[in-house]
Amino acid sequence: MKLISITPLLAAGHVLAGFDKWSPPGSYDVRGPCPMLNTLANHGFLPHDGKDITKEIASGALFDALHINKTLAGFLFDFGVTTNPKPNATSFSLNDLGNHNVLEHDASLSRSDAYYGSTIAFNQSIFDETKAHWTAETVDLRMSANARTARVKTSKATNPEYTMSNLGDSFSLGESAAYVVVIGDKKTATVSRSWLEFFFEHEQLPLHLGWKRAETAFEREDLDVHLATMRNLTREAEETTPVGRLVRRANAMHFGW
Ligand code: HEM
Ligand SMILES: *[C@@H]1O[C@H](CO)[C@@H](O)[C@H](O)[C@H]1NC(C)=O
Ligand SMILES: *[C@@H]1O[C@H](CO)[C@@H](O)[C@H](O)[C@H]1NC(C)=O
Ligand SMILES: *[C@@H]1O[C@H](CO)[C@@H](O)[C@H](O)[C@H]1NC(C)=O
Ligand SMILES: *[C@@H]1O[C@H](CO)[C@@H](O)[C@H](O)[C@H]1NC(C)=O
Repeated sequence: MKLISITPLLAAGHVLAGFDKWSPPGSYDVRGPCPMLNTLANHGFLPHDGKDITKEIASGALFDALHINKTLAGFLFDFGVTTNPKPNATSFSLNDLGNHNVLEHDASLSRSDAYYGSTIAFNQSIFDETKAHWTAETVDLRMSANARTARVKTSKATNPEYTMSNLGDSFSLGESAAYVVVIGDKKTATVSRSWLEFFFEHEQLPLHLGWKRAETAFEREDLDVHLATMRNLTREAEETTPVGRLVRRANAMHFGW
């Protein structure tokens, strides 16, 4: 049984998965717009090739690496599988997640809008705009809400095809909550800025900076409460967050400044 379960990892040229194992994607490996799932594939918690991820594989990986309740992980997987264009699919590959306007949405924190280019590739200038709002060593949900709100304002102001469905909006708020309370501490709702910068820019868990798997499982209720907080903070941020650098540049061109 053990041998069977590690066969995909062996086939991908990786003998073991784990916190101390990491390698970037090779030329036959696929990645997607989710920095966390990419990271888990780089560590081998998910198949290193990023392909054919079943519910069992996804929930095992999210539990083993991040201590996410397997029922919650299965719930997230059920959204993920809708991005596979094959009818009645029971798995998805990481690049499927990049299919625009299924789950993938505009105003991402580290990827450009589909209108401008790849929804999958990390984009440093977009991420620079996001991290400018992480104004202290310890990042909280308010900073996260400010960062997301700024990205939404920039996209609305610059992307003539900007769209955000209700599902996209909820996913987007969930992502902005998750990087604080899943990577960081769900009780204090804070996370170390250095962990975040390393995680997004390298798609690797920041173990060498002191990160470790949470001792307490992350439950559906944790997601719900932090998502509600994020909605409230976003309402406040919408009134206070100035538009980003990219908007100013676009306006400058428009007005010939
Ligand atoms: C089966 C589980 C998961 C699925 C199906 C999934 C799916 C996705 C998708 C489709 C996106 C792209 C949204 C976009 O920016 O357009 C995304 C982004 C993101 N995901 Fe995941 N995800 C999962 C688990 C997680 C977990 C556990 C975390 C924990 C930190 C996470 C953190 C993020 C973050 C922070 C982003 C935003 C990236 C950005 O805006 O640049 N995801 N995810
Ligand atoms: C996982 O979450 C489900 C649904 O919220 C819950 O019923 C279950 O008890 C949780 N699992 C564990 C091991 O706590
Ligand atoms: C998908 O599932 C539906 C309903 O179960 C079935 O009618 C249909 O034939 C299936 N399609 C394929 C391509 O398997
Ligand atoms: C990154 O995003 C910016 C803003 O949308 C865009 O102008 C630029 O071309 C993107 N860079 C890459 C490498 O896709
Ligand atoms: C969000 O705001 C509403 C309305 O002001 C309030 O009733 C609710 O308790 C708040 N929720 C959280 C989690 O902060």
